[in-house]
This record gives sequence, structure tokens and C-alpha cells, in this order.
Amino acid sequence: MCGIVGYVGADKSIEVLMGGLRRLEYRGYDSAGVAVIDTAGHIDTRKRAGKLQMLVDELAERPLANGATGIGHTRWATHGGPTDGNAHPHLGDDGKLALIHNGIIENFNELKQELLDAGETFFSETDTEVAAIMVGRAYRESGSLYESLRVVVNRLEGAFTLLVMHENEPGVVVGARRNSPLVIGLGDGENFLGSDVAAFVEFTRRAAEIGQDQIVTIRQDSVTVTDFAGAPVDLKEFEISWDASAADKGGWSSFMKKEISEEPEAVAKTLLGRVHDGAVVLDELTPIGDDVLKGIDRIAIVACGTAAYAGMVGKYAIEQWARVPVDVELSHEFRYRDPVLTERTLVISISQSGETMDTMMAVKYAREQGAHTLSICNTQGASIPRESDAVIYTHAGPEVAVASTKAFVAQITALYLFGLKLAELRGTLDAAEIAENVTELSNIPGKLEQVLETSGKIAELAHWMANTRSVLFLGRHVGYPVALEGALKLKELAYIHAEGFAAGELKHGPIALIEPGQVVFVVVPSPRQGSLHPKVVSNIQEIRARGARVIAIAEQGDAAVLPHADEVIPIPLAGRMFEPLLSVVPLHIFGMELAAAKGLDVDQPRNLAKSVTVE
Ligand code: M6R
Repeated sequence: MCGIVGYVGADKSIEVLMGGLRRLEYRGYDSAGVAVIDTAGHIDTRKRAGKLQMLVDELAERPLANGATGIGHTRWATHGGPTDGNAHPHLGDDGKLALIHNGIIENFNELKQELLDAGETFFSETDTEVAAIMVGRAYRESGSLYESLRVVVNRLEGAFTLLVMHENEPGVVVGARRNSPLVIGLGDGENFLGSDVAAFVEFTRRAAEIGQDQIVTIRQDSVTVTDFAGAPVDLKEFEISWDASAADKGGWSSFMKKEISEEPEAVAKTLLGRVHDGAVVLDELTPIGDDVLKGIDRIAIVACGTAAYAGMVGKYAIEQWARVPVDVELSHEFRYRDPVLTERTLVISISQSGETMDTMMAVKYAREQGAHTLSICNTQGASIPRESDAVIYTHAGPEVAVASTKAFVAQITALYLFGLKLAELRGTLDAAEIAENVTELSNIPGKLEQVLETSGKIAELAHWMANTRSVLFLGRHVGYPVALEGALKLKELAYIHAEGFAAGELKHGPIALIEPGQVVFVVVPSPRQGSLHPKVVSNIQEIRARGARVIAIAEQGDAAVLPHADEVIPIPLAGRMFEPLLSVVPLHIFGMELAAAKGLDVDQPRNLAKSVTVE
């Protein structure tokens, strides 16, 4: 959940670290801190509770002398509240060593007691300080930062990325990772470490992966990696496919607004190079192999939050097109309930960040049970794709706002490409049917541009409703996950009660919530799609009769809805399966605008972090 950056290079570490923290702040914003080895060879730190701006102010008041070696951290608090004292870096070896950490050291209580018994003093309530003190003690024995960290990580349990530097080794930062992200940035006369590539993309687009249970040492002109036993590991380089401007606000008032505006592009880029002559080309599936895919008898989709709702949409399409049973499960539930997995099960994980710990553990578990694993992921070099047999990258570009938006439509697009490919392999759709769906998919970016034109109307609605205390969302079929997604956005951004229901479930309980003035968004299926439309229109009448204020998201020209809805937000015509890609956008805009109307921070909602890297 925390953001981590490390640098060795020229005497500009503060600029690099603060730039990196600005781009990583979405990962956690309870506190921030930096440490540098200054030109005189001493470690100096600044750290402050609160958002990164507090650290910026602190540095303006008490500047740090620049240096060529530094580490920086932005925190999402786990152990110990969000205070200055608990902010990272933490120090060891009498202040000669500085350490930052992302993750949870599960055996920290026992290790802390050991250190207290040995006469050590603690200055924070964090689990991290245990590691700082342990590495400091190990350093006094070995005199090698790499060796000290290597010895200590072998004693730690849990998930961690650790970066450490020592006054005696200026020009060196050593990092280690287990179940928590860390990537290397390869520069010219400078090298970087970061929780993700956003930390250093401003300076280099050459990056390299660090595998599970590995230790990396960066110097100005070299990068070496070993495993926890000390055996050398080859670097696996990759090129970052986007540039620094993609991770900037670029004139928009918030990252979220920018990212919603990029939803058409997110779909278009995810399709790019993957459709040809009406067919789907997914070379990424090669590691699993056509024969295995033809033979699978069940798919389990694992994901959390918005990614899980994308999975629910995908289930409808994959089952209909490829005729394989699909279950969608929250990753944290999946792993602990002893699911039935065989060599004929395909587990598809969906994750924007590729670092969600619950999802990563579910994937590992699935592999251990002999299932095949496919990752749908937006972040290059992330952990979940590395744990999977194959990966389909969504190409939505960096998503910085904590609320996921463009990743959702890109994930559905990737699932649809996969569903159509599977249908082709299994012979459940013929070439013409596949081509028809490919055309529908290819037309989505243009239609999304039309949906974005309704932004002004939705903003007005949201601003009128700034004092609303509860909003319900109804949908049916593929509209049901869209309703859940609309409710999640409102909860996390505007901090108001919001719930999504399957419209058919209304009379089984939720209709009791309806009282005069209750706002209900209804995702209405197209009137051209058969029997569901009149049923949802009936639902609208039922809640309207009980005083609900209805905002319908309905196909352009849907005359049957007009008399019963207080407001109608039109979406362009699309096939049933493709409607969620369009109908979700007004709900993304609504959540963002309602939060803005309440004066809330749209990009960094309280208590949250962009990637949830602890269980
Ligand atoms: O990075 P992931 O896609 O794995 O993240 C999953 C969820 O944590 C994420 O979608 C979360 O629910 C968002 N804040 C929703 O907007």
C-alpha cells in the first residue's frame, strides 16, 4: 500500500525522490518521508504525517542538503497511527542506517521482544523499525549492507519490500522483496528503485523486474540481483510503454477526471493489434496453449473491488460465447474456502495494479492446486502476471486516482477478447458471429466519446444532490455489475450510503428501503434486447410509485422509460453485452462529481490506497 522510491546517481536525489513520491502518492497518503546521504556522507531525514504536501512544506522550512543517494516513502498506515514518529524512514545503527518498508512483518512482535531484551530502544509503533534495528545490528557484524539485509530478510515473515542505505556505503541502495512490489529503473549513470515504474518514468523508460524473494543492489553504474540465499539472478529488462506525461494531470482538475476522459482510449488501446479481419489475435495465450484452453471445463475469475465487477460482466459474455461455466469470486474469499480446482480449471485474475495481495495469493494458491492461470493486468512488471502462466495486459495507461475507472472498461475489453478467442477455439461461435462481436467491440471507443458528452448534465445532477445521504443502483444481467460499480464509486468517493442491487431482487427485500425522495439510478437494458427491458421498466414504476426519484441510464430514444424517470441519461445503441462499457461511464462521472460537490478529495479518498498490497 505504501510507495517506495530509491535513487543512486547525481547530486539530485531530493528532486528524484520527491518527483517519485508525487507519482506514488496514490499508493498511500498517511505520511511521507525521505532520507539522503548528503555530500558530507551523513544520513539526514525529513518526515511528516499527512499528505505529501506536508513534507514539501517541511522541506521548504528545513531544507535537506542534496546528495547522490536517497530513499523516499509514502505511507498507508498498518502498524501504528499516521504520525510523524511512525512515518518512514526508520533508523538503525545509531542513525547511520535508514530503511523504508512496504508490507507487514508478521512476526514483528516476537522480533521486537528479542531486540528489547538485547537492550535496543524503539522510537515508533511500527513493525518497520524492527527491520531497521535488525539490519543495523547485522551491519555492525558484517560491515556489508547487502549481507546484513540478506541475513535479516531470511528471518522476516509476511510481505515486505525493504530499501536500506548506510552512511558507510554512500552510493549504494539495497532492496529486497517478498510478496510486495519493487521494480528497477535503469538509467545512464544513475539507477532507481520504485514500487512501480511511475516512480522513475520521468528519468528512464528502461526497467527490470525483481522476482520473489530477491535482493537488488543499485549503484550509480551497476545493478546486481541475487536470491535470498545469495545466488546471482539475471536481470529481466523491459521497456515502459508510456511516458511521464501519461502519469501527469495534464491540465485536468483531478486524475480521476482525466482518467474518465481516457476511457475511450483505454478500450481502443486494449484492442490495438488484437483484432484482425474480424478475428481475435491473442498470442499472449500461447504459454497456456490451445489444447489446454479447448479442454478446460471451468473458469474461476478472482479479483477485488472494481476488478471483480469487471469479472462479473465477463462471466456473462464468456459463458454465453464459449459455453464454459464461469464463477466470479472475491480473491480473499476464494483462497480460504478450499475451492475445487483441477488441471482443467482456468483461473483468471483481474487486477489493475497487478499487486493486490489478496488476488496474488489466490493465483498462487490456484497454481499450487494445478490449475492454469491467466492474468488480466494493467501494470507492466507487476507481481501477479509474474505469478501467472500467461497475461493479457490492458493498455489503459497509468491509473493514478484511487477510484478505478478506465481500468474497468479495459478489463472488460480484455475479458471479451478472451471470451471470443475461447469461443473460436471451442467452436461455439462461428467466424461470422465472432466478427460481429469484434465489430461491436471496435465501435465502443467512438460510442464512449458520445457518452462523455453527457458529463455536463451529470455534473449538474450531482451538484444538485450534494446533500443526498443515500443512493441506490439497480441493474439487470450485465447491468447488475454496473450497478454495483456505481455504488462502490459513490461509497469510496463521496462517503455516502450506496448500494447496488440486481433489479429482479428488488421485491425480495430492498424495495423496503424506498421512501419518498430516495434517489435510485437504474441501468436500463436496451428495448431491442428482448424480455428484460419491460421487466426493468416495471421495476422503475414500482419504485416510482413509492416516491423514489429515478435517474435512468437508458438507450437513446428509449421512449418507454421517459414517462417514468425523473432524469434520463442516454447512451448510444450497442449489443446487450456491450452496454456495460457505456452505461458505467455516467456512474463514474456521477461519483466523481458528487464528491467534488461535497468538497472532497476526488483522487485520494480517506482511508484508501490505490493498491492493496497487504491482506
Ligand atoms: O489493482 P486492483 O485492480 O487489483 O485493485 C482492486 C481494488 O482494490 C480496486 O478496484 C478498488 O476497489 C478501487 N478503489 C475501486 O475504485
